[in-house]
Amino acid sequence: MNLSHSAFPGSAEGLLESMRRRSQTGPRHLVEPGPDEGQRRQLFEAAATAPDHGQILPWRFVLIHAQARARLGRAFEQALLERDAAAGDDERGRAREKASRAPFLALAVVREGGDGQEHIRVHERMVSLGGALQNLLLMAYAQGFGAGLVSGLAMDSRALREFCALSEHERAVCFVAVGTVARGREPRQRPPVERLVSELAR
Ligand SMILES: Cc1cc2nc3c(=O)[nH]c(=O)nc-3n(C[C@H](O)[C@H](O)[C@H](O)COP(=O)(O)O)c2cc1C
Repeated sequence: MNLSHSAFPGSAEGLLESMRRRSQTGPRHLVEPGPDEGQRRQLFEAAATAPDHGQILPWRFVLIHAQARARLGRAFEQALLERDAAAGDDERGRAREKASRAPFLALAVVREGGDGQEHIRVHERMVSLGGALQNLLLMAYAQGFGAGLVSGLAMDSRALREFCALSEHERAVCFVAVGTVARGREPRQRPPVERLVSELAR
């Protein structure tokens, strides 16, 4: 059997309905239990099915385990101080607290170059990462969890870059958070197809 040409299991409408049901849940509304080791692996296996021009794997994830959250919190605090050296205790505390949210937290990192594959340009690499993120989010929902993406000003900070050991060619894009939904919200109204397609017949 040629697997690459076999139809997906399940119906097309079923797949579309699953996609429609996904919606952003912010990390503060994601609580224990989170994905176990097998489920975490499945999330990353889903990410690995993303399209990848030239198969250069231009992205990776840094999974931040519970034991590393306090250090991530200090990195967020440092990131704040890079932007505002006069930030007060409350603001610094809020920055640290963000690191404790969501049982599963991983930083999505794109490699923009430096690998001799520069003909695959940055926007193509980002498209590949976007596919990986979407697949990971959908898998999280299929596992019965909620999930969301968060970026913010810390992404470009020296503190976060150092904490996650990013190379000079890598960029932190966003965190992906997964966990049990404490407070969900209805999926948003999706844009009508007419808004995203124009047609040429000749
Ligand atoms: C790269 C990226 C970064 C994001 N960062 C944030 C963020 O910092 N805060 C936030 O509330 N949502 C963030 N989001 C999630 C979007 O807000 C969310 O996808 C959008 O509201 C659409 O809702 P939906 O995902 O439920 O369809 C991010 C999404 C992407 C693709």
